[in-house]
Amino acid sequence: MNIMGIVLAAGQGKRMKSKLYKVLHKVCGKPMVGHVVTTLENINVTRSVVIVGHGADAVQSYLGDRVEYALQEQQLGTGHAVLQAKALLGSEEGLTIVICGDTPLVSEETLQGLIQLHQQKGAAGTILTADIDNPRGYGRIIRDTNGTVKRIVEEKDCNDTERLVREINTGTYCFDNKKLFEALSQVKNDNAQNEYYITDVIGILTSQNEIVEGYVMQDAAESIGVNDRLALSEAERLMRERINRKHMLDGVTIIDPAATYIEADVKIGADTVILPGTLIKGRTTIGEDCVIGPQTDITDSTIASGVTVKQSVVQEASVGNGTSIGPFAYLRPGADLGENVKIGDFVEIKNAKLGDEAKVSHLSYIGDAVIGRNVNFGCGAITVNYDGFNKQLTEVEDDAFVGSNVNLIAPVKIGKGAYVVAGSTITSNVDANDMAIARERQVNKAGYAEKLRNKFAAKKRASKQNRE
Ligand code: UD1
Ligand code: CA
Repeated sequence: MNIMGIVLAAGQGKRMKSKLYKVLHKVCGKPMVGHVVTTLENINVTRSVVIVGHGADAVQSYLGDRVEYALQEQQLGTGHAVLQAKALLGSEEGLTIVICGDTPLVSEETLQGLIQLHQQKGAAGTILTADIDNPRGYGRIIRDTNGTVKRIVEEKDCNDTERLVREINTGTYCFDNKKLFEALSQVKNDNAQNEYYITDVIGILTSQNEIVEGYVMQDAAESIGVNDRLALSEAERLMRERINRKHMLDGVTIIDPAATYIEADVKIGADTVILPGTLIKGRTTIGEDCVIGPQTDITDSTIASGVTVKQSVVQEASVGNGTSIGPFAYLRPGADLGENVKIGDFVEIKNAKLGDEAKVSHLSYIGDAVIGRNVNFGCGAITVNYDGFNKQLTEVEDDAFVGSNVNLIAPVKIGKGAYVVAGSTITSNVDANDMAIARERQVNKAGYAEKLRNKFAAKKRASKQNRE
């Protein structure tokens, strides 16, 4: 069966009160229209047409060539919007799913149920409906006494009886493609908003004695259409629950799902435990048997298996098997850690590769560096990568030891197995297996502490007398 998709995304979304076009507002890290297009892709549509208008450039640059586009220059209503796809899809045989770009929760399973009922009944059009307690703002499904769908009435056009109906139009439909476009050409704009409504297609089809069905979705929460920020936060919560539930069913332990924020495209392996207060975002992948959190924020990163990340921030970083991070570490873009690395508290790593078994246990900054296997960075040791003009490279070869509070002033290279004495400021390369010490020699003055104390006490007395 040839199934196509039409996504309505031309409206500005005035009720969002935003500079950002409505369908680009994110739900769990992904623009709403992205969720809708992904769902259509997952039911294997042959073609998808997104109707763009307000913010057309922004929507197109986000979706790219995943879909085709039709421009609706003026937003004259949802029916007018669908009509813009006629030039592209008008001559196709098959079924067309029409869906709004602001209903991100409609699931693949629900669309499959909708299509199945449509085909079973030989319908010309099938509406995805939901029974909800508070139908405010939605179009109402009007059925006759036999339960047959007759038409959809927008809330603004409802009479008092119609307004009481709790079965609503979710804005998603399955149509016979040819019949959809034939009926659309008859839609008028004589309603409260003077718009061409897609919902009128339903009344037109029933008046032509075509079969029209309503498919009531099982989980009404999926029906949410985001028109304002309140609905956006509601959609976010529902999507978050859905994402967390899926990870848990796939074997991930989430200690407190209400306090765990995992974005839509994140992948997590089985037996990983996510502790509360954790955000996992963007294109992040996490392996198996990890412990992530509490209070950890990971974005666009690749974390292998058996990794621990505690109270840390990780961005565009890559972390090898068995590595442990934090508490209170900051991995910035380009941090690339090998296996069984240890990154301790208050350590910042940026654009630096660290070999297996490397240890940076406390209070260090490593930027623009290549650090070998089994290197030890002592407490407070840092790379001095920036002179105010250029960023320079630091290299530390395998098995080298960098003592506490060492400054490695880049560009500089520490050879394999070399030993840099604590407190050194290193400006020249150190050869393999050499020891480097670069600090002022210490002088001890016998009994001088007592002398100093007497001197300071005398000064204090003198200044006090002066003031009196
Ligand atoms: C629409 C339905 C309503 C349904 C609700 C579900 C109509 C007339 N009403 O109402 O029955 O209960 O969705 O959420 O269809 N759009 C365009 N071009 C336009 C107008 C709208 O592309 O000219 C797009 C919008 O960007 C949006 C979608 O269509 O993504 C829905 O439009 P919106 O104004 O939000 O319709 P609702 O009032 O929510
Ligand atoms: Ca809407």
